[in-house]
Amino acid sequence: MIPQSFLQDLLNRVDIVEVVGRYVQLKKGGANFMGLCPFHNEKSPSFTVSPTKQFYHCFGCGAHGSAISFLMEHAGLGFVEAVEELARNVGLDVPREAPMPGAPAPAAQRAQTLGLVDVMTRACDYYRKQLRGAPVAIEYLKRRGLTGEIAAHFGLGYAPDGWQNLEAAFENYRDDQLLDAGLVIESEKGEAGSTKRRYDRFRDRIMFPIRNTKGQVIAFGGRVLDKGEPKYLNSPETPLFSKGSELYGLFEARIGIRDAGYVLVVEGYMDVVALAQLGFPQAVATLGTACTPMHVQKLLRQTETVVFSFDGDAAGRRAARRALEACLPHADDNRSFKFLFLPSEHDPDSYVREHGAQAFADEVSRAMPMSQFLIGEVTAGKEMHQPEGRARALFEAKPLLQQMPANALRGQIIHALAERVGSSVNEVAELCELHIGAARRQNAWDKAPAKREKRRVVGTEHRALQNLLMFPALGNELTEEETKILREMGHHGEIFSEVLTLCREMGAEADFRYMSDRLKISPNWASFDDIIREILSFEENARDLMLFDPEDEAQVERREEQIALRLTELRSAIRRLHYDRLCEALETIFKRASLTSDELRHAQALSRERDELKRWLASAGTGGTRS
Ligand code: GTP
Ligand code: MN
Repeated sequence: MIPQSFLQDLLNRVDIVEVVGRYVQLKKGGANFMGLCPFHNEKSPSFTVSPTKQFYHCFGCGAHGSAISFLMEHAGLGFVEAVEELARNVGLDVPREAPMPGAPAPAAQRAQTLGLVDVMTRACDYYRKQLRGAPVAIEYLKRRGLTGEIAAHFGLGYAPDGWQNLEAAFENYRDDQLLDAGLVIESEKGEAGSTKRRYDRFRDRIMFPIRNTKGQVIAFGGRVLDKGEPKYLNSPETPLFSKGSELYGLFEARIGIRDAGYVLVVEGYMDVVALAQLGFPQAVATLGTACTPMHVQKLLRQTETVVFSFDGDAAGRRAARRALEACLPHADDNRSFKFLFLPSEHDPDSYVREHGAQAFADEVSRAMPMSQFLIGEVTAGKEMHQPEGRARALFEAKPLLQQMPANALRGQIIHALAERVGSSVNEVAELCELHIGAARRQNAWDKAPAKREKRRVVGTEHRALQNLLMFPALGNELTEEETKILREMGHHGEIFSEVLTLCREMGAEADFRYMSDRLKISPNWASFDDIIREILSFEENARDLMLFDPEDEAQVERREEQIALRLTELRSAIRRLHYDRLCEALETIFKRASLTSDELRHAQALSRERDELKRWLASAGTGGTRS
C-alpha cells in the first residue's frame, strides 16, 4: 500500500494544470483554467482546473478529482500506475508499506475491478466471435429486422448452448474472477472437500453487452432465441455493475443525445437497438427495473431534456409513475421531463416498424409534459366535482410536490392544481406544507436558505455522509461510541465504515481531495461518486473550504470554523439516527406477545436511553422526533 503522506507530498509537487493540459487544451480564465470537458461531449467549455486547489471539476457532467484521478479516468491507468506515472514526472520513488491489519486494501480492490473489466471484455469478444459462427442466432437477429452493422455497433454476441463454453475463452475456467464477474455460476452441491461444479450463466442466448459511460463492458443482458424462461437474463450485481444506476445503451447514445438535444428512455434492450437502427440513436433503456433517481441524475449529465416512453398498458402507467417520482427532485426550471404513452399493443420497436420513423418522431414531439402527467396522476379516478374527490387529489399531490425544488415550475403546478380543486394557491401550498416565497426549512441545520432550493430532500443519514466526505477531519473527532453507531447503520453501515476507516488512515491530513481520490478505488465507488458529484454541484458555499488552499490563511481559518459547525451538526445527526434505531428496536420488542424478565429489563434500558436522547434532541431543537 502507498502511504497517505506520500500521496499528499506527490500531489503537492505535481501541477494538475500541466497534467490535464497534456490531454485537454486549457485556457486561463480568472483564477482557473477552462477547457472542453474530456468526459462528456460539449461545445462550450464547462471543465475547470484549479491550480491553487489542484482539483478539476466539470460543471456540465460532474467529473471531478485530482491529478491522480485524472490519469485514472482519462488515460485509463490504475491507481498505482497513475501514482507511479506522476511520481516519475517529478522524480520521486513510490514507497510501499504493509497494509494495516483489517483495513481495506484499495489498490487491491482497484486491481480487482480492472481485472473484472478485462474478464468482461474477453467474454464479450468471445460471444461476438460465436455469433459469426451461429447461423440460427444470425437468422434470429435478421428476423427481428436488425442489420449486421447495428449488431456490430452494439457489440451483440451469442452465448452458445452448452455448460462450459467459456473454458474455450479463458485459460483458467476456475479463476475466481469469472465468478465475481457473474459469468459463471457455482453449484451449491458437491461433496465436502470436492471442488464445486461451475457452469456458464449464459447459455444459448443473444448477448447484449452493457457498458459504463467510459465504454467498458460491465455486464450482459442475454435474450433467449425464441420462447423460453426467463426471456432476458441479466448479469447479477457485481463490483462493476449495479442495475439501479446503469442504463443500457448510454455509451452508444452519447453523440445521438447531444445531436437530438434529448434522451429517450425506453423499457427494452431491443427497443434501444432497433431505434438506433431506424434513426433514433438517442435511446437508452433501464435494465428491467423501475427508473431510479440515480438513473435520472446520470441522464442529466448528458442533456437537460429527458423523454420517457412507456407502453400504454397498466404496467407502463405504473412504470411511468415511478419515473415521475425519480424526476421530481431533479426538476429544475432549465430541465424538462416528458412522458410518452404508446398504444398498449406496442413497444417502441414494434411501433416504429409498423408506423415508421416519422410517426414515432411525431409521438415524441407530442409527449406529455411532466406537469400534465403529475396533475393527471393525482386527479385520475377522483370525483373532482365532489369536495371529497378534490381533497383526495390534494392529498396525493402533497408528497409529489414536496419532492420538487421550490422553483417556478412547482409554482406553476400549484397554480394549475389550485384551479382544478377550486382553492387558492396559498391554500394548496399550506395544505401541502409547501412554503412558497419563503425558504424551505427542511431541517434544523439548513442555515443557508439562498442556495437551499436546489438540493433535493435529503435524509439524515445521507446528510451525515455528505458531511464526512466534505470534511473527513470530522471522522477523527467522533467518539468510539459515535463511530460505532455509524458503522452499524442499517442502509449505509458498510459505506460509513469505509469512510471512517479512511479518515483514520489519513489522520491529521484528512481532507476532501484525498478522500475523493481514495473512494475512486472503492468497491462502492458508484455510490460515492454520485454523492460527491452532488456535493460539488450543490454545496457551492462549502466548496472553497473543502478544496481549500493551505497557503491562504483566511481560508484555513474559515475552514476550521466550518468544521466546528459541521461537527455539531454531525453529532446531532448521529444522535438522531441512534434515536430512530432505538425506537425501531423497541417497537419490535413490544410487538412480541410476551417478554422474559431479561428482555423486559433490556427494553427498559433501551427505553430510558431513548427518552434521554429525546430530551436532548428536543433541547437541541432538531425537531421532528417520533413520539
Ligand atoms: P423483445 O421481446 O425481444 O422485443 O424484448 P423487449 O426488450 O421488448 O422486452 P420486454 O418488453 O418483454 O421487456 C422489457 C425489458 O424488461 C427487457 O428489455 C428486459 O430488460 C426486461 N425483461 C423482460 N423480460 C425479462 C425477464 O424474463 N427477466 C429479466 N430479468 N428481465 C426481463
Ligand atoms: Mn419488444
